[in-house]
Amino acid sequence: MRIDIVTIFPEFFGVLDVSLLGKARDRGLIDIAVHDLRDYTHDRHRTVDDTPYGGGAGMVMRPEPWGEALDEVLTPESVLIVPSPAGERFTQAIARELSTEARLVFACGRYEGIDQRVVDYASSVARVRELSLGDYVLNGGEVAAMAVIEAVGRLVPGVVGNPESLDEESHEGGLLEYPSYTKPAEWRGMPVPPILLSGNHGAIASWRYEQQLERTRRVRPDLLGDS
Ligand code: ADE
Repeated sequence: MRIDIVTIFPEFFGVLDVSLLGKARDRGLIDIAVHDLRDYTHDRHRTVDDTPYGGGAGMVMRPEPWGEALDEVLTPESVLIVPSPAGERFTQAIARELSTEARLVFACGRYEGIDQRVVDYASSVARVRELSLGDYVLNGGEVAAMAVIEAVGRLVPGVVGNPESLDEESHEGGLLEYPSYTKPAEWRGMPVPPILLSGNHGAIASWRYEQQLERTRRVRPDLLGDS
């Protein structure tokens, strides 16, 4: 998978060198390029924003540098992802869909967003998805892009060593994950639930499923359709 990121804060993405995604890059499974939006400006101040037409608070990102940057990285087989609190909610199902794509491009906006014509134009060249991480406002798209890249990247075949570990996770089966325990069997007076030491795999599977149901009912009843 090839990932291009356009941002005014390229240094934000230094963390993509470490951990699981860093290894995936080293192994050639994911190829990530970060582009500085200001490299596509032509004025002395490398201006990327301006006041909004129609008035209002904040600044809007001008379309020209975005147009030039996207002309360079967008191809007809790309999916352009625009993180935005006004986008559709990003879910594990969307992460799965995106993990099968050959090319993703992230357009990280700042301030009050990007001139709408950039998204409208890009829609004529490639598929575009405006994605929101949740019902809160971040300062820009960078942190959201990072979250999407991590959620998608770990689903790319070969990135996670044991693919079975992906299947039992929260959200994959529509339920939250069961609680996990490791050694020691007792810690600060708290024992591990005895069933997990029983060696009875059937009973362990049922217990875990009950835990998933109980946790989902308590924390996220909306996932069970009875919020
Ligand atoms: N940019 C600002 N807020 C955001 C959010 N909640 N999700 C995605 N991108 C954003």
